[in-house]
Amino acid sequence: MSFANPESVLVAGASGGLARALGAELVRRNPQVQLLTVSRGAKEGFVGHSGSHEHLTTALDETASVDAAREFIAAQERLPDWVINCCGLLHTDTHGPEKSLEQCDDDWLLQSMQINVLTHLHLARALSPLLQRRSPMLWVSLSAKVGSIEDNRLGGWYSYRMSKAALNMLVKNLSIEWGRRVPGSCVVAIHPGTTDTELSKPFQANIPADKLYTPAQSAGRIVDVLEKLDAEDSGQLLFWDGSVLPW
Ligand SMILES: NC(=O)c1ccc[n+]([C@@H]2O[C@H](COP(=O)([O-])OP(=O)(O)OC[C@H]3O[C@@H](n4cnc5c(N)ncnc54)[C@H](OP(=O)(O)O)[C@@H]3O)[C@@H](O)[C@H]2O)c1
Repeated sequence: MSFANPESVLVAGASGGLARALGAELVRRNPQVQLLTVSRGAKEGFVGHSGSHEHLTTALDETASVDAAREFIAAQERLPDWVINCCGLLHTDTHGPEKSLEQCDDDWLLQSMQINVLTHLHLARALSPLLQRRSPMLWVSLSAKVGSIEDNRLGGWYSYRMSKAALNMLVKNLSIEWGRRVPGSCVVAIHPGTTDTELSKPFQANIPADKLYTPAQSAGRIVDVLEKLDAEDSGQLLFWDGSVLPW
């Protein structure tokens, strides 16, 4: 079963650069799609959208978001066909990727884990009791290639790498648990490619212009990949072109 032409899509972390571009791309391809958005911020509309749009304001890094998100999803007429979780953190005003062990800071590692892992765990916990055996779902976590342990040849970026590696393990576990409970479901992590958003802004200086993608470019390529997925692809870490990356 392919996941092309979703009728309902949930986008979490909806205010982010990639999330907004993904919402716009989904609406461009499926103007009548039912959009469910979850964000710490307010609801944002999409040009050309003629379907319904429901929004939940909640901070997915907090435990209370599990109940809030579950209530929100349960109140909809149907479960989403796709769930795309875009939450992630690379830097704040005071912290960023570490070049060496000396720069590591406990609080920053914990904050990285909270945003890069718990935001995905909480949404999965919200959805889990609502899953229906006969309604296979596509779950996508935006992760990062630097979270691949096998692919790590440069070192550094301790907190981001460790938290994305933990997210990758969450995705793998989820693919196994939901694969048993809901045959036909597909759970993947995807690396969007280096995209011009707030998250990558401070690190763009050394990136060749042809390797820094616009949010619209990345969103188009991610949706291309998602439309072609089926249950057999579950449990993979994917590159933005659909190829498989090592965990
Ligand atoms: N841009 C890139 O080059 C790149 C490369 C590889 C991987 N990625 C991954 O792609 C995803 C989207 O990134 P982006 O580039 O779109 O970044 P962004 O514009 O900074 O968006 C970050 C997202 O994370 C959420 N978030 C941030 N802090 C949070 C917090 N304290 N609690 C809950 N949610 C929080 C925001 O959701 P709210 O709507 O709730 O504010 C927002 O959607 C991330 O997982 C990132 O790691 C990006």
